[in-house]
Amino acid sequence: MIPRVRKAVFPAAGLGTRFLPATKAMPKEMLPLVDKPLIQYGIEEAVQSGIHNIVIVTGRGKSAIEDHFDVSFELEQLLESRGKTSLLAAVRGISDMIDVAYIRQKEALGLGHAVLRARELVGPEPFAVVLSDDVIDAPTPCLRQLTAVHDAYLCPVLALMEVPGDKISSYGVVDAELVEDGATGGRLFRIHDLVEKPAPQDAPSNLAIIGRYILTPDIFDSLDTIQPGSGGEIQLTDGLRHLLRSRPIYGLKFEGRRFDAGDKLGFLKATVEFALKRPGLGESFRDYLKTIRVE
Ligand code: UTP
Repeated sequence: MIPRVRKAVFPAAGLGTRFLPATKAMPKEMLPLVDKPLIQYGIEEAVQSGIHNIVIVTGRGKSAIEDHFDVSFELEQLLESRGKTSLLAAVRGISDMIDVAYIRQKEALGLGHAVLRARELVGPEPFAVVLSDDVIDAPTPCLRQLTAVHDAYLCPVLALMEVPGDKISSYGVVDAELVEDGATGGRLFRIHDLVEKPAPQDAPSNLAIIGRYILTPDIFDSLDTIQPGSGGEIQLTDGLRHLLRSRPIYGLKFEGRRFDAGDKLGFLKATVEFALKRPGLGESFRDYLKTIRVE
């Protein structure tokens, strides 16, 4: 039987320094895009991909995330008594659809370390990792695109995106070879190596890793084995390089648009695009934008 991907890990314990001071007392995953926190977009993507077991790795501001996915009796009662049924549904909706567990990463010791913290909660099965500051607008949810590849190859699958040369040094970059695969139409790659934030001249390709992964449970042994890098951080990329010694890893150039909402400019772009698409808001927002004179 194919081991289905049922769980998704959301690392949310980073320091979010690019958004200080907003992220001093609040995790960046709670920054609102139009009217929903970033992490909710990722969780909705997981639910739309058939994944309902959510593990959130928290650091500071733990209570804001927990409260968001918890039941708020007072608020729900108030909305009910005032007949605000659509708001009530919006407040209830997502928490009804997921089973959520939390684990603490006491110190921000890297993305790999955050994933390793979820080991006991994930157990011996494949799982997704979602970095919720990467917000993806896609006809088929990005995670669903990745799980389809996982189910066919039973291997880890990373979401890839083409990035122009002058931007490549901000990403993990893959050295990869195209795989002949009818279902994905020239977008599937077998990964030979991964390089974290290479100088443009050293980048092995223009294919960058973005914040969606399907991983297999053997990644935990790899993360446990590798030596921490600078600042005592354990990087997921290093864990994946270690795992490559013992099994194939695939990358899929996903279909859709990704916004880096962990960065101020990316966050503003995502806000504009999502607001324009939002029913009941998009039209008047578009009218407003037309009145702005941009030199
Ligand atoms: P980032 O690289 O965006 O780092 O983390 P950051 O600390 O969140 O933000 P900046 O760069 O300082 O502005 C990518 C993802 O990994 C999580 C973050 O919460 C984010 O979702 N992360 C990172 C952890 O959970 N723990 C860590 O130790 C590091």
